[in-house]
Amino acid sequence: MCGIVGYLGVEDAREIIISGLKRLEYRGYDSAGIALRKCDSGTFHIYKDKGRVARLEEIADFSFKTCLGIGHTRWATHGVPNKVNSHPHQSEKSRFFIVHNGVIDNYKELKSEILNGNKFVSDTDSEVIAHIIEKYSDEMSVNEAIRKTMSLLEGSYALAIIDTYNRDKIYACKNKSPLLLGLSDKGTIISSDVMALVGYSTKYVPLKDKTFVEITKKGYKTLDIIGKEVEHEVKVIDVDYFNIEKGEYSHFMLKEISEQPSVIRTIISKYFDKEEVTLNGDISKAIKESDRLYIIAAGTSMNAGFIGKELFEKMAFIPTEVHIASEFAYNMPLLSKKPLFIFISQSGETADLRAVLVNIKAAGYRSLTITNVKTSTLAREADHYVEIHAGPEIAVASTKAYTAQIVVLAILAYGQSDKHINLRKELSKVAISIENIIDKREYIEALVQEYLTKRNCFYIGRGIDYYACLESSLKLKEISYIQTEGFAAGELKHGTIALIEEDTPVIAIISQRSIGKNTRSNLNEVQSRGAKTLVISTNSVHEHGDQIVLDDVYELFSPLLTIIPAQFIAYYAALQRGYDIDKPRNLAKSVTVE
Ligand code: F6R
Repeated sequence: MCGIVGYLGVEDAREIIISGLKRLEYRGYDSAGIALRKCDSGTFHIYKDKGRVARLEEIADFSFKTCLGIGHTRWATHGVPNKVNSHPHQSEKSRFFIVHNGVIDNYKELKSEILNGNKFVSDTDSEVIAHIIEKYSDEMSVNEAIRKTMSLLEGSYALAIIDTYNRDKIYACKNKSPLLLGLSDKGTIISSDVMALVGYSTKYVPLKDKTFVEITKKGYKTLDIIGKEVEHEVKVIDVDYFNIEKGEYSHFMLKEISEQPSVIRTIISKYFDKEEVTLNGDISKAIKESDRLYIIAAGTSMNAGFIGKELFEKMAFIPTEVHIASEFAYNMPLLSKKPLFIFISQSGETADLRAVLVNIKAAGYRSLTITNVKTSTLAREADHYVEIHAGPEIAVASTKAYTAQIVVLAILAYGQSDKHINLRKELSKVAISIENIIDKREYIEALVQEYLTKRNCFYIGRGIDYYACLESSLKLKEISYIQTEGFAAGELKHGTIALIEEDTPVIAIISQRSIGKNTRSNLNEVQSRGAKTLVISTNSVHEHGDQIVLDDVYELFSPLLTIIPAQFIAYYAALQRGYDIDKPRNLAKSVTVE
């Protein structure tokens, strides 16, 4: 994971890098660092420490003008988060400074085979890269030394490199981890994501894998690994990217929960012409021609995938399987004859999904990515992509991307169905009903105070409600650190009910007529063992005493509603405990390591 920003130009490098890193903190935020060149003397200075990017503002010397630098915000993989393991790392004789995003799988072999005798100061895999570049730069040009190093690295990397002997240049290269160049007439920015370019450039160049870049004041040159010049397309940044302020909201998560009705309306405006769905015909064809859909995803996106399975199977009668990407990549099940792979990923960068995409492409299977970032790796590399149009999601806990993914899955499933509902009307109804829940959020806040008093909690439901429970529990645990499980209500009695004790909170989701009664029996079972129960139900199946009763919508769309109180429950539980809601511990928004 980690975020990288580098800059060379006439503006203040320190300001551009620090503000860019703040925007990239969603990629990791356990430590940060920056290397800067003083404009007048040309000397280099490194500032780094454990903690957020804001820490750099406390420790960096602001008394000199800077025109070149590289910076990093870290999500630790190798070595605990501390000052020594923070980037930038230096080569043995301190000639090179590097910042790295990715994982070098063969760093131990490289240490013993190529760098035997070198002294390392950190526990990271990254430091090795700086040492190898320095070793080869004794025998060849820097440009060649970096490309030779690239040829030895196994794994993923996006790198920004300073050579203190070449003070007017920055080098960069990448493989698998994202990296792009932001262009303006005042300089060039290197960044892991366009977010860091906000306010500085409107054009960018996404770099291809195994690309090496040399940046000077005059511009940039991109080469492949053998030194041949390669062309890269220049793109214009989508204005949506600039909509990334909290505004009146205290947290991005609260803002993003509240944006869900407008996200649904945006998706409707993008994919409907009056009452008709207007999706790319090739995508419908690919779905129609397949005999089974394989949804590949992780975390919240996988939970959206489970709802997608219900939609494809119940609306369009297409058999659908949902798989954990990290499992599927190394333990592929027997496939049907004509599978279509659907990758669901908010970021479009999740390494576990990419590992599957690479394998299934090599095997000749077709693929579709559903993502919020149309410029992402998974969007670029799949045969087709559909954008979910949720707008930038900044809070680490995903909310609006989840509902947007489900809406897009509904549109895809509907395209293959007998069109027995008016989809546009049903989705519009959902948007209004979500607004009704948002209006009642203070009531939910009070319920949280009353019910979520313990270290653990259960969400129970059946069928599609069970899938909604999986996402509800993930939300609660990831930001409030309450140990929460989403359980198939009927399964609880087969062992896990042993954990229920006096006042254990159990939240039931009941939106389906056919199975509501069964879930209520399971609620009685836990109540008789002391559980403190809270019910989220829909109007037509509600019973007296249910604490949160939602509007009725088309049955298969109920997860779009039941998740909203669950998102608020998570939000308020974290708020009441005083936690950092937008940046929960140990997590990062874009998981670019396997
Ligand atoms: C939880 C959350 C994660 C992501 C998961 C996959 O709130 O956001 O579980 O859903 O890391 O990320 P994407 O969707 O970017 O592939």
